[in-house]
Amino acid sequence: MKRHFIWAAALTVAISMGSCGKKGEIYKDPNANIEERVEDLLSRMTLEEKVYQISQQVLGFNDNMNNIESLNPIPLDSKIGSVIYMGTDYKYRNEFQKKAVEETRLGIPVIFGYDVIHGYRSVYPIPLAMGCSWNPGLLQECTKVAAQEARMSGIDWVFSPMIDVARDPRWGRIAEGFGEDPYTASQFAVAAVKGLQGDSLNSTKTVASCLKHFVGYGASEAGRDYVYSEISDQTLWDTYLPPYQAAVKAGAQTLMSAFNDISGTPASANHYTMTTVLRDQWKFDGFVVSDWGAVTQLINQGAAADNAEAAIRALTAGVDMDMTDGVYIRELEKLVNDGKLDIKVIDEAVRRVLRVKFRLGLFENPYTPDSKDEERWLLPASKEIIQKAAEESVVLLKNENELLPLSTDKVKRIALIGPMVQNAQDMLGSWNGHGLASDVTTIYDAMKEEFKDATLTYAQGCEQDGEDRSGFGLAVRTASQADVVILCLGEKNGWSGENASRSTILLPAVQRDLLDAVARTGKPVVLVLNNGRPLELVDMEPQVKAIVELWQPGVTGGKALARILSGAVNPSGKLCVTFPYTSGQIPIYYNRRNPAREATQGFYQDVTVEPLYPFGYGLSYTTFQYGKLKISADKVAAGGKLKAEIAVTNTGTRIGKETVHWFISDPACMITRPMKELKYFEKAELKPGETKVFTWDIDVNRDFSYVDSDGTPFLEPGDIYIQVQDQKVKVTVE
Ligand code: NOJ
Repeated sequence: MKRHFIWAAALTVAISMGSCGKKGEIYKDPNANIEERVEDLLSRMTLEEKVYQISQQVLGFNDNMNNIESLNPIPLDSKIGSVIYMGTDYKYRNEFQKKAVEETRLGIPVIFGYDVIHGYRSVYPIPLAMGCSWNPGLLQECTKVAAQEARMSGIDWVFSPMIDVARDPRWGRIAEGFGEDPYTASQFAVAAVKGLQGDSLNSTKTVASCLKHFVGYGASEAGRDYVYSEISDQTLWDTYLPPYQAAVKAGAQTLMSAFNDISGTPASANHYTMTTVLRDQWKFDGFVVSDWGAVTQLINQGAAADNAEAAIRALTAGVDMDMTDGVYIRELEKLVNDGKLDIKVIDEAVRRVLRVKFRLGLFENPYTPDSKDEERWLLPASKEIIQKAAEESVVLLKNENELLPLSTDKVKRIALIGPMVQNAQDMLGSWNGHGLASDVTTIYDAMKEEFKDATLTYAQGCEQDGEDRSGFGLAVRTASQADVVILCLGEKNGWSGENASRSTILLPAVQRDLLDAVARTGKPVVLVLNNGRPLELVDMEPQVKAIVELWQPGVTGGKALARILSGAVNPSGKLCVTFPYTSGQIPIYYNRRNPAREATQGFYQDVTVEPLYPFGYGLSYTTFQYGKLKISADKVAAGGKLKAEIAVTNTGTRIGKETVHWFISDPACMITRPMKELKYFEKAELKPGETKVFTWDIDVNRDFSYVDSDGTPFLEPGDIYIQVQDQKVKVTVE
């Protein structure tokens, strides 16, 4: 019989926890209301217990070199509110939990967190790739898998999703989010929260989510990490806050405060964003954890003279829990005792942390139930889901003369060339949880399996970087003897993610030279890219017949690629981020505002102002013909509704999926609007010859209102254009 872990019922709980506690101990009563339990427990806590409750330490070996260890660590104490659990053995986690539950005065369970960004063990494509799938439902399924693997392995809380809108591909963390558009990021943020948290947090298979990094981290200056960001209030509201607002509304339990300085007030000391907006306006009742060391870093940022001031600034601004730097533990008690900090501020932070713990059911079920590795990780059903995700996030950027899919009648000899062909580790991307290279099906193995009737040859050619070109000779000979070359280039997984900025988005010279050498053979080249950011491809593009953007696709990515090359799967990804023509165009994004002299001036003297591949770009093996864009009325009142529709026909010979993007633009507004902004999208599968009418149900207040620099929505009468591809229709808001 299939084993299901269901949290024990209240009765079992009562037994395992030593009944409902002593008389009057409401916090131990599983039937009591959570708010009453929180208040009861809070009333029993000493100041020291409270301070520990809002602090986080590390359990296990810190596996992230960017998480800088404290030079003066505080010994790990079972009174601690939370740990980042770096291990995969839930028994070790349970042992620590036992100390907290059985050996501390009040028996408050610890909440165990970990970075599960795109999979715990079943690693799926990086979020930037998932954004290109235009399938939030699929992300929801992937995050559900991740949640299940994590919770069953002892993790109650994951530091994800990362929903920072990013428009600078030099910034390595662009890999972790869903691209350049606030609406897209919002849709994927909501999907991730739903997938991670499920219908109930009190389950063995769901986790609390953590929206990060609040806020504006994607605006980091010059694409560098941990630096200043210049964000006007208007841009904060137009661009950076919307994904958070949507995900908070969807029930996200926690947020992480960011490392960046927002126009002079660091995100981790920002009362406006964390209290005025998050708590007062959005009514968020979960908790905010700082990023790693972000409280003490307020000193480096010039926002606090010492740790005591840093603690006061962070806590009073709304950072409820201090991640790992021990500042709250060292400073808060004294600050209260000296009359410099009101205990009520600490109480509020404790209340928020406890509330989430109660919701997770940790008081009743503090221990991770027994299970075997094979019952938790890489289940066949999970691998099916993540393979679908890898397939749907691939973007076909070029396909001259329909070289792809490879026709096995004409293509008998396939040369696999490049440093990514047999590379498993880099397929996982950054922030790969507990994923292992040994879980990955490489491109080489997957191609052998998929193209059983062809002759496959291989030459690595070069490493991803360095100067060694000694492998070029063999690569060229191998290419010369083939009918087609699959050239697999790309980035190491450490080239994106945290602390991984690059001054240019070109691939290293050695890889570009390999492409030149292989292309000179005259053989048709399919360029396959594994990368965590948009790349500058302008010199490579003319030399190849096809380009497949595979991203960092996770453990099943090799199979996804092979199935796309063979035609078993028709690519359906479209870019959720612009590919610049050159690095010098950065930042470049589709939803920029109108220039003053659009048609005649304001260009670069040396290169085009257009990107190489725009937002929304992606090819298919079939063709889709769009009919006429129609709207149900051309005038509408505030509060009204409209219907926009467009018929799309699959005019090719293969089944395929198409995403319709619905944009609006507003030619004249008190606060200028982007040239166009995405408001809705839908992806659907169409059989050859099939026509589907894509519909957007417009709610005028929801879809045509903007926010001012205070976040107050307003609807302005006047003309608005609805746009799909190159078609525009005008609607007048009366
Ligand atoms: C720092 C990163 O910025 C953040 O995203 C991560 O969750 C924490 N370290 C914990 O590893």
